[in-house]
Amino acid sequence: MEKISIGNNVFLLPMPMVLVGSRKEGRANFMAVAWVSRVNASPNAMCIAIGNKFTAEGIFENKEFSINIPSVDLIAKTDLMGLVSGREYDKSKEFDIFYGSLKNAPMIRECPVTMECRLIESVRLEVDTIFIGEVRNAWTEEKYLTNGTPDITKVSPFCLSMPDNRYWSIGEQVGKAWHDGLELKEKLEKI
Ligand SMILES: Cc1cc2nc3c(=O)[nH]c(=O)nc-3n(C[C@H](O)[C@H](O)[C@H](O)COP(=O)(O)O)c2cc1C
Repeated sequence: MEKISIGNNVFLLPMPMVLVGSRKEGRANFMAVAWVSRVNASPNAMCIAIGNKFTAEGIFENKEFSINIPSVDLIAKTDLMGLVSGREYDKSKEFDIFYGSLKNAPMIRECPVTMECRLIESVRLEVDTIFIGEVRNAWTEEKYLTNGTPDITKVSPFCLSMPDNRYWSIGEQVGKAWHDGLELKEKLEKI
């Protein structure tokens, strides 16, 4: 099979869309972020990569932020949070806000799952900064749980693909992790 080069600006991996909450100039602010990942098991840590944004200033200032997972019915509001800056608009008015133990990590009541994070470390790159935060607590509602854990079909998050800039919902379950490779493992020869 012949491969063709498509340059270095293609990231066709589904990226989960989140809303990052921070506080700046005495008010809550939310920003759309696709560059987000879990990065450490203990303590539980998440990282976000964000540019020189109003949000970044708030996180540097207060060392706290939140990660809110919106469901597909919040697509338009999520997109809006990526179209305008808190420097020019009071974006806090768009949501019902609540707080956990961190007073500078505003969370969105409309989002099925939210996490409050304390900044552990920041890594400045050429354009963006990677903020690594310890997840102090995560919040949800009974209706999003199945057998006590968040159920992705009930939470209904969505992803972004780049560079075509489209949103995608989660599809069907296609397998089981740490399980579907077990049969192949049996056939492996140990070194
Ligand atoms: C779909 C989408 C994904 C985005 N992902 C990121 C991201 O991962 N990192 C980033 O720095 N900006 C990202 N942005 C841009 C910011 O959300 C946007 O610049 C926002 O206005 C910043 O808000 P603030 O100035 O209030 O902090 C994204 C925007 C959209 C629409």
